[in-house]
Amino acid sequence: MSSELVPVPRTAVIVVAAGSGQRLGAGAPKAFVGLDAHTVLRHALAGVFAAPLAQVIVVAPEDRVGDALTEAREAAGERHDLVSVVAGGATRQESVAAGLRAVWPDVERVLVHDAARALTPPHVFARVIAALESGKDAVLPVLPVVDTVKRVDGDAVREAVDRSELAAAQTPQGFSRKILDAAYAAASRDHTDDAALVQSAGTAVWTVPGDERGFKITTPADLDRARAVLGAAAPSRGVPMPRVGVGTDVHAFGGEGDLWLAGVAWPGERALHGHSDGDAVAHAIVDAVLAAAGLGDIGTHFGTEEVQYAGAHADVFLARTRELVTAAGFEIGNVSVQVQARRPRFAARRAEAESVLSTALGAPVSVSATTTDGLGFTGVGEGVAAFAVAVVFPR
Ligand code: CTP
Ligand code: MG
Repeated sequence: MSSELVPVPRTAVIVVAAGSGQRLGAGAPKAFVGLDAHTVLRHALAGVFAAPLAQVIVVAPEDRVGDALTEAREAAGERHDLVSVVAGGATRQESVAAGLRAVWPDVERVLVHDAARALTPPHVFARVIAALESGKDAVLPVLPVVDTVKRVDGDAVREAVDRSELAAAQTPQGFSRKILDAAYAAASRDHTDDAALVQSAGTAVWTVPGDERGFKITTPADLDRARAVLGAAAPSRGVPMPRVGVGTDVHAFGGEGDLWLAGVAWPGERALHGHSDGDAVAHAIVDAVLAAAGLGDIGTHFGTEEVQYAGAHADVFLARTRELVTAAGFEIGNVSVQVQARRPRFAARRAEAESVLSTALGAPVSVSATTTDGLGFTGVGEGVAAFAVAVVFPR
């Protein structure tokens, strides 16, 4: 994908990682404590880079800016031009303010995320961004409170609190950039989070569902929990546990120009209809691989409004898919895809298609093809269908 086609992101994510981690007491700033082979910060950034395209600003302790930049570049992969690191302040609020000063001019929405919520899944980011896009100015991911809650005074219980009125706040919290800038400029005292600051400036805040995995690593017990979550997802007895995903896609004939299917052009065959080239085989592979890594589906990452995917071929989709799953900490094992179509005839070009798809994805892709004995829409030649299964491994 050539760089001039990549749009300037309209969203920025500020990852605050400048705290000292007093309560964790791990002998290093919390964001730089290891969870497995990777630090808290690196895991947090893997989630950020697997979420929709955004400028990413890491706010680090002043003496850790260099380390943070190394981590951020590694997590970003080919997207390293989107990342910057700035030094934080004495409080979380000062650290967010430092991050805000580094937001690019064209950015319209800003998400603020605690690095300490290292295992927050990408779909929470996508959810917050979607709520902002639907017109909300301030969006907060929340979880229901499950414990019975009491108001206390020292060790005396004063009263029970109705938990149905309560919600536990998480990050990333999302805001219209103008509103967040104005609230920060006007802030006269410290608030516990950005939603509280914006609300005190008079903006209504709306909730979206958070996720259990977005818990904040605060105490040593939280660190154990994070390591256990990762341990359950990753190698057991030295054998990495694979994860599978399934994907299907259908496109109708009736597009312009040549047919593109399974990553190759088929001159003389009728083209498929679609926002991109209508390559159902490539799209089924993308869905299967993203599903295996738990990263949503093709619509989560390849919006039809994104200009660089208009007319794009399989190589663009598969290369980006590989970047996404790599950033999320997975390696692709293999993919098997079957196409159902009366035409084109795959037998003579199956090996060529496998080679093109495997190169683009960076993992073996096997292609099989079948007709359906004249039955259904593929049988009468109205369109093609593709079904893919993918295996990924935690790295
Ligand atoms: N944070 C920050 N700058 C600060 C304080 C906090 O960027 N001056 C960040 C932390 O790095 C963390 C998030 O804000 O990702 C939430 O803060 P918290 O969990 O309180 O982290 P620490 O302040 O590091 O921990 P502690 O309060 O135990 O010292
Ligand atoms: Mg703190």
